[in-house]
Amino acid sequence: MSENLKPTGQRLTGKRIAVTGSSRGIGAGIALWLAKEGATVVITYSSNEASALAVAKSLPGQGHICLPLNVSDEASVDAFFAKVLEGGPLAGFVNNAGITRDQLILRMKTEDFDAVINTNLRGTFLCARGAVKAMFKSKTAGSIVNITSVIGEMGNAGQSNYAASKAGVEGLTKSLAKEVASRGIRLNCVAPGFIVTEMTAALNDEQKLKIQSGIPLGTLGETEDIAAAVAFLLSNEARYITGHTLSVNGGLYI
Ligand SMILES: NC(=O)c1ccc[n+]([C@@H]2O[C@H](COP(=O)([O-])OP(=O)(O)OC[C@H]3O[C@@H](n4cnc5c(N)ncnc54)[C@H](O)[C@@H]3O)[C@@H](O)[C@H]2O)c1
Repeated sequence: MSENLKPTGQRLTGKRIAVTGSSRGIGAGIALWLAKEGATVVITYSSNEASALAVAKSLPGQGHICLPLNVSDEASVDAFFAKVLEGGPLAGFVNNAGITRDQLILRMKTEDFDAVINTNLRGTFLCARGAVKAMFKSKTAGSIVNITSVIGEMGNAGQSNYAASKAGVEGLTKSLAKEVASRGIRLNCVAPGFIVTEMTAALNDEQKLKIQSGIPLGTLGETEDIAAAVAFLLSNEARYITGHTLSVNGGLYI
């Protein structure tokens, strides 16, 4: 990439924002970026509390907290919202938690299909419902950002479960955007392409070159590219944008 990205300022000062699955990867990158933009961040983790605490410790500013949240478990989602609201209203929510269970269809086990839909689509539904409810209650004009994927837009052999879950989130987002716009709540998606994370670090050079050759901007994206797009959609600069999917994929799918 040409130059390092930096947050533009304090666009999110005074906003309390929760990010699911933020103990590592893209979620941790989003949490850091939001804090640099002045937000108070609620880090959530499904199992790795130590890693979540380390992320919280690394954030600039004050008042950041870590809470457990398993997005595919309704009781856990309910408990999370009850707890998080004790600390004040939420102005933003980022549905970032997601999993893959890749396999060609003839070898794909039903439980692998269900697991991906449960976490990525049902989990986003449960958390979006909780966030909308909380924003209604506190009369907060909030912003919800759902992380989808370029795979949900273009499809990919071996990822039918994942593509279906992410395309589903896009439909969910558009419908909810229409439902709650009158209450001042906006919902949008950010659809990443291939991003450098632990997952892509496992690819060998040949695989990386093959992926890069299909990306018009010539390189994989970085966590900061996703975080910057999320911060924009959470900020007041995006106050007239709802029901939109912002593709951050280097031109991989246009
Ligand atoms: N890395 C990429 O290239 C890429 C591309 C497109 C989309 N995405 C999407 O970005 C998001 C983050 O991906 P990542 O690359 O950082 O992956 P990752 O595996 O590093 O992080 C996913 C996070 O979700 C959490 N999680 C998983 N199941 C959960 C559950 N049931 N409840 C709560 N948390 C749960 C994990 O603990 C982890 O913190 C995902 O939604 C993924 O689909 C990633």
